[in-house]
Amino acid sequence: MTERLTGKVAFITGAARGQGRAHAVRMAKEGADIIAVDIAGPLPPSVPYDSATPEDLAETVRLVEATGRRILGAAADTRDVDALRAVVDKGVAEFGRLDIIVANAGITVPEAWNETTPQSFRDVIDINLTGTWNTVMAGAQHIIDGGRGGSIILISSAAGIKMQPFMVHYTASKHGVTGLARAFAAELGKHKIRVNSLHPGAVNTPMGTGDMMAALNRANETNPGLMNMVTPFLPDFIAEPEDIADAAVWLASDESRFVTASRVAVDLGSTQF
Ligand SMILES: NC(=O)c1ccc[n+]([C@@H]2O[C@H](COP(=O)([O-])OP(=O)(O)OC[C@H]3O[C@@H](n4cnc5c(N)ncnc54)[C@H](O)[C@@H]3O)[C@@H](O)[C@H]2O)c1
Repeated sequence: MTERLTGKVAFITGAARGQGRAHAVRMAKEGADIIAVDIAGPLPPSVPYDSATPEDLAETVRLVEATGRRILGAAADTRDVDALRAVVDKGVAEFGRLDIIVANAGITVPEAWNETTPQSFRDVIDINLTGTWNTVMAGAQHIIDGGRGGSIILISSAAGIKMQPFMVHYTASKHGVTGLARAFAAELGKHKIRVNSLHPGAVNTPMGTGDMMAALNRANETNPGLMNMVTPFLPDFIAEPEDIADAAVWLASDESRFVTASRVAVDLGSTQF
């Protein structure tokens, strides 16, 4: 495999498992050192699937080290910008630079509109939208200071282009992430920093564990006609985390050097239906 990120350093949130782990391992295989953050602990009570653990984060560290690259793994909550800054500052002191940010940490809560509580709405917005803003704010100045430009990738969703039924908060937060990417792209462009949003469709990750399927089915039953609104064009229904990591590596590499403020969908066409 060619090393498309040799000598670069990537800051990745939500890296304990799922897509965040795939981004970390794939970027390390491409030659990048990694600053990896995850809450690695309980998610808000409204989240129906299993939470990540410190062992999950340790496994990501192990997998990255197995590639021969360096990694700083730390438990931090993306809702806490000071905690993020502390980790990124430490990582940059250790690895010498920052080139790439992947704001990937996120949660989802399937529930009908009238079962959504003020608390679950706040939790989803706080983590998916404010947490993504915090992630950029913790890292962007370091990329600017390097003077070489860089790439910021904000993980949105198919729900950031179209909408996801039974997830008013999630759809709002992921549309917000799309807006963050475009707005940051405008102001950071003069520093040769590209900012794009990446929009996965369904991905096979631990988001599907625990009571997630039961919660989805419960919500679907309230309005079954909406169930077909996310229909992929390709025969597969669900992507693997590595499929999304392939796109993230491309966005992080110089191969996409003129791509900024774009919405890059890896969703089997589902948002075009
Ligand atoms: N799985 C899907 O079908 C799918 C589809 C489209 C978009 N996405 C998005 O992709 C991203 C990654 O999700 P995934 O599928 O890998 O799910 P996941 O639950 O396996 O991974 C998300 C990780 O983020 C961490 N995290 C959550 N809140 C955090 C916080 N406040 N601070 C720090 N870490 C936190 C979790 O602990 C977890 O390790 C999310 O933004 C999600 O919304 C997922």
